[in-house]
Amino acid sequence: MHKIFATHRDQFTISADPSRLDVDTICDFFTRSYWAKGRLRERTERALANSLVFGVYDGEKQIGLARVVTDYAVFAYLCDVFIHEDYRAHGLGKWLIETVHSHPDLQGLRRWTLATRDAHGLYKQFGWDSLGNSEHWMEIFRPFAEEGRD
Ligand SMILES: CC(C)(COP(=O)(O)OP(=O)(O)OC[C@H]1O[C@@H](n2cnc3c(N)ncnc32)[C@H](O)[C@@H]1OP(=O)(O)O)[C@@H](O)C(=O)NCCC(=O)NCCS
Repeated sequence: MHKIFATHRDQFTISADPSRLDVDTICDFFTRSYWAKGRLRERTERALANSLVFGVYDGEKQIGLARVVTDYAVFAYLCDVFIHEDYRAHGLGKWLIETVHSHPDLQGLRRWTLATRDAHGLYKQFGWDSLGNSEHWMEIFRPFAEEGRD
């Protein structure tokens, strides 16, 4: 594994250092997301602890996140992509996705997946496409599990 990854642009930093994450801020982002509104804090902490995390910072202040669940060899799942409302539409989201893809430990993977309700146009710019053979895919989906209920 490479040393902890960071990249800078103006006053902004994207860092994969888990110790920099501001869990209060991340939980606050999630209350305004459509996919993780009710996620329990301990679930968020466990998810972050077991993922490759990319925090986006304005100086020291966290203003964005992306999380990658991966085996670092074959497969990666990209999720929890968020830029704070005050910082949107300035290219930070695109820089974040580009940075995730350029991480040295995520090269040569066979497959990346993600799920999105409306941000297809963001990911398409980085080579993503709809599932080619969706009938080959299966899932167990329990949308309320992370809130601690069935
Ligand atoms: C999606 C999000 C991360 C984008 O961050 P951002 O910093 O505003 O994005 P950027 O300024 O880098 O530009 C995003 C690009 O994707 C495009 N795009 C397509 N769908 C989009 C969407 N649903 N939301 C935002 N941008 C979208 C934009 O048009 C733009 O492309 P362009 O510059 O070629 O016009 C941010 O809007 C966000 O946090 N949204 C709420 C959470 C969310 O939907 N996350 C993604 C879940 S999969």
